[in-house]
Amino acid sequence: MNTIVADKSHIEYIKMVEDHPDNKDFIGAWTIEEHLEALQNDNYQHLVFEVEQQLVGYCILQDLIHPDHSILLKRFAIDVKGKGYGYQAVEGIKQHVFTHLQPNRLWLDVRYFNERAMKLYEKANFRKEGIFKKASLMDDQYVDLHIYAMLREEYEKYT
Ligand SMILES: CC(C)(COP(=O)(O)OP(=O)(O)OC[C@H]1O[C@@H](n2cnc3c(N)ncnc32)[C@H](O)[C@@H]1OP(=O)(O)O)[C@@H](O)C(=O)NCCC(=O)NCCS
Repeated sequence: MNTIVADKSHIEYIKMVEDHPDNKDFIGAWTIEEHLEALQNDNYQHLVFEVEQQLVGYCILQDLIHPDHSILLKRFAIDVKGKGYGYQAVEGIKQHVFTHLQPNRLWLDVRYFNERAMKLYEKANFRKEGIFKKASLMDDQYVDLHIYAMLREEYEKYT
């Protein structure tokens, strides 16, 4: 799998994955304009994942210029599910972030019912740090977010 820093040409694909009914309950969504704005903003980076010249998913990294060197994996979805691409993509994200972006910490939140994603992050050696109670509004309901993180020292220990 190749992990590629996305550009304008990838936004249509990203939007298609983001809006897909299979992903809607698990991730947020931006307008095309919001994606294009983020591409111009040094605080964000979009990545896409490619297997045999086919795009299979994307993610958005946020807080690249955070004063505490803490990068958020803001959004992540795999288009072709259940084939191991999610795991390969998370490994690619970790490698990209800790090699090229120099943070001290990479973290993310997951809605409480997203067991598939939590299993994936645990398999990829993210540590569960806690729960933000009712921190996300979903269909008029406040839902809990589970927080996962990896420190640089943990990344270095596991690789
Ligand atoms: C979550 C997601 C990224 C996983 O990607 P994927 O390619 O389907 O997952 P993989 O095939 O690489 O599986 C990796 C691990 O995830 C877990 N997993 C995958 N599918 C699962 C399922 N249906 N049930 C439980 N765990 C599952 C397992 O731990 C699996 O490892 P294993 O096969 O050794 O048991 C993908 O399903 C997706 O895009 N979901 C919708 C959006 C989303 O939830 N994004 C994350 C927001 S925090």
